[in-house]
Amino acid sequence: MCGIFGFVSTLERDPEVVLQGLRFLEYRGYDSWGIAVGSNGLVDTDKATGPISDATTNLGRSNIALGHTRWATHGGVTEANAHPHCDCRRRFALIHNGIVENYQDLAGRLGPGHRFLSQTDTEVLVHLLEEEISRQPDLLAALLTVFRQVEGMSAVAVLDAQSGQIALAKNGSPVALGWGEDAIYLASDPSALLEYTHRMTFVEDGQAALLSDSGVVLTDVRTGEIVQPEVRVVTWDTRRAGLDGYAHFMAKEIHEQPAILRHIADRKAQDAAALASLIRDAHDVYLIGCGTAHHAAMSARYLLAEVAGIKSTAAAASEMTLIEPLLDEGSLVVAFSQSGETLDVLEAVRAARQRGAKVAALVNAEGSSLDRFANLTLLLECGVERCVLATKTYTAMVAVMHLVSHLITGDADRGVREVRAAASRVESLLDRETVHGLIKSTARLIVDHQHLFVLGRHRNYPLALEAALKIKEVSYLHAEGFAAGELKHGVIALITNGTPCLILAPDEDYRREALAAAAEVRARGAFTVGFSPRAEAEFDITLPVHGASSAPYEIAGASQLLAYELALLLGCDPDKPRNLAKSVTVK
Ligand code: F6R
Repeated sequence: MCGIFGFVSTLERDPEVVLQGLRFLEYRGYDSWGIAVGSNGLVDTDKATGPISDATTNLGRSNIALGHTRWATHGGVTEANAHPHCDCRRRFALIHNGIVENYQDLAGRLGPGHRFLSQTDTEVLVHLLEEEISRQPDLLAALLTVFRQVEGMSAVAVLDAQSGQIALAKNGSPVALGWGEDAIYLASDPSALLEYTHRMTFVEDGQAALLSDSGVVLTDVRTGEIVQPEVRVVTWDTRRAGLDGYAHFMAKEIHEQPAILRHIADRKAQDAAALASLIRDAHDVYLIGCGTAHHAAMSARYLLAEVAGIKSTAAAASEMTLIEPLLDEGSLVVAFSQSGETLDVLEAVRAARQRGAKVAALVNAEGSSLDRFANLTLLLECGVERCVLATKTYTAMVAVMHLVSHLITGDADRGVREVRAAASRVESLLDRETVHGLIKSTARLIVDHQHLFVLGRHRNYPLALEAALKIKEVSYLHAEGFAAGELKHGVIALITNGTPCLILAPDEDYRREALAAAAEVRARGAFTVGFSPRAEAEFDITLPVHGASSAPYEIAGASQLLAYELALLLGCDPDKPRNLAKSVTVK
């Protein structure tokens, strides 16, 4: 979703710094961008639709600059709608993440004569500020007066070209401040600041800040009282090395999975033990997340039940309303989230805490809102996931829960051994030219079909959902994951001649049912691709996986690669699928 990057510096700096910061936020998903600098008391802006990757700017050097990448909500993808938005006198440039739910109402409070240049919900804020500053000349106080009127979850930042300050306020979207040598930076994603500093202050909801060349003043939005900024040293390894010879981040991140599994096996057992003990002590356990993270939560439910005999409930965080009334002091909510900023997840954990429940989090982004909010955080330590699609973080979430499940039984070594073994198996699967060749030829055989199905039973069911999601997101083919046992209760009506069906059949248990499902669809003309340790009469093609405790990782890797190859065949950009955002910070 929308990205923010800016600075206030004691030195004049090239606005390329802001472009560079925004480029680092590209992976979050955006459709247009804009930057503003202060120049002789007025604001200069540069905006464009489309990619920022090769963009340049003619804006001059300045002590103060603010930029934004927009993911359209109100108003189409146009240059005029790109942020920053300026007041009528071009003293202020304002950017905003989130939604101003009452923007029409706010527009009604403005005096006459304002010239609106966009169709956004945001622009009204800069005109309100323009009026407010004549009543109270202090930038932060004026912004707070405006911000207190805004309904909806938002982060707002405004550059004042006259005073050389940036003021910001937030009650939803993330903002981190970076303490550089000769500049204070702000960004919506702490990882964008690591180029300049590891010393950061995370602005909490309900806080506002004023950045000037003499430092930062942090205040409480409601009371206006000054708050002492807490400086945290972020140790996150962002592994920004780039593509390392891969054509896309998606391919690179898929291939990083064996190393991540080894890292988890070797280094995460202690953190996992803390989560294991919370789960053991809880009288009920809820596993929540969105999209891929939800599928990881579903896989975790099977692991906890099968390995540790622990009953839990897995749910989409956006459906938390059903669970919420059931929570109390004895409950544990485990939130799965790569970004740690997904609004549905944050709202769910806040509601859980209000009911007295404990919150544990599996998060990749260190310093994210979820990381800071949870009673216990388990950092996945996967490095930044730059492809919009989640791949390696899914695997890492499952692996952590694999360790947790064995820790609960008291056999930690077994968990570590199994995750290590999975690393080697995934490595040999991804590196074997023959397997990759087979995946490529499978992609060629199924690419011309508009609809395809992925069938999995029991612990393979969440994997079927996840494989289908990966294919949908990146290739735009219609793929559906189903519990294989449900096939005959409706899905089978969709199978016609040549319909591709991926059958997940890695294990001896439930294999009979998986093969029966394959036979049933094949009898109706389906083209079947088995994920299986051996070829079977029911499969037209077999993608070899070892099975047992390595199966989830092998199936994930193979299906991610299949999705990737389908995207390439269809000319889709695997790293930036249409309409998607890496960090979903709106409802
Ligand atoms: C799928 C994908 C999304 C995310 C979902 C949750 O490839 O990336 O489905 O998994 O938006 O995001 P996080 O994990 O950041 O909460």
